[in-house]
Amino acid sequence: MLRRARPTWKLVNLDALTYAGNVENVKDVGEDEHCAFVHGNVANAALVAGLFARYDFASVLHLAAESHVDRSIVGPQLFVETNICGTHTLLEAVRAHANVRFIQVSTDEVYGSAASGQCFTEATPLQPTNPYAASKAAADLLALAYQRTYGLDIVVTRCTNNFGPYQFPEKLIPLMCINALEDKQLPIYGDGAQERDWLHVEDHCSALLAILERGKSGSTYNIGTGQTCTNLTIATRILAHLGKPDSLIRHISDRPGHDRRYALDSARLRSELGWMPRYGLGDALTKTIDWYVENRGWWERVLSGAYRTAPANEFPSRA
Ligand code: DAU
Repeated sequence: MLRRARPTWKLVNLDALTYAGNVENVKDVGEDEHCAFVHGNVANAALVAGLFARYDFASVLHLAAESHVDRSIVGPQLFVETNICGTHTLLEAVRAHANVRFIQVSTDEVYGSAASGQCFTEATPLQPTNPYAASKAAADLLALAYQRTYGLDIVVTRCTNNFGPYQFPEKLIPLMCINALEDKQLPIYGDGAQERDWLHVEDHCSALLAILERGKSGSTYNIGTGQTCTNLTIATRILAHLGKPDSLIRHISDRPGHDRRYALDSARLRSELGWMPRYGLGDALTKTIDWYVENRGWWERVLSGAYRTAPANEFPSRA
């Protein structure tokens, strides 16, 4: 946002720096006078109220979430606390301050699994199938209820699977890239024929900016590219690009309640706000694989755990 799109904006970045947080990812704005970093949790009502009192926020872009489905299956409680209670805490702060726009950043997973050929629109009923998705659906409904009940300026966004640089290597694409680079097996759940609609992170960002600036209050906007692809195809493309053998692929037990297919219709975003994705899956996937090849130091510090105590972690104490 600061480097390319809105260099004069002032941003306050509130981040709990849980296992997936890494200040190294934002170190280029560490000393930027337009950006303050606050180390803290969105579910901390006193902290959030203090920030609202200190800064005259025009808007809140709510991206904070526990986001990994497998972790939600093992331990759902944190998902309820962060995704539902955290959203509620922010909504209460917005309710106490007039004229703050609130963007609830959510996911296509709230719609559940799409039938073959089906594309979810914003009117599709919510049918989440795992605790993560259910927590996001709950938060979305809370946000929309606050918009209606209190007349607040609130918009909900629902994106498809993101990929790109700096992605924590629990997600499919970075995990497959790193395992392949290390000649380790690539774990594919079940038959690997599950489909996802892949969205480059920068296309997600450009959509969020358009919605933040021009989205209609009370609306929901799907954000997807229509580039669906099976997990197995993603894995084999990564192996081919890296010159590694397909024999590294290992089919393992399926994820419980695994959604077979996600596909989004994002016509509303395209027609109302003129958004278009810039990245095609083919080129963007290659570029992303190359990023993990060229940034071995970044993911090695993540894998070893060094990123949690790296010198860059001095940066949060500044705020
Ligand atoms: O659709 C948007 C969602 O995309 C976001 O809301 C979630 O926060 C994000 O985690 C992602 O959810 P998925 O469960 O689709 O992403 P994940 O990268 O975990 O898995 C993508 C697909 O790959 C899914 O079908 C499960 C499969 N998979 C994943 C992993 C980590 C494997 O086959 N093997 C693996 O080791």
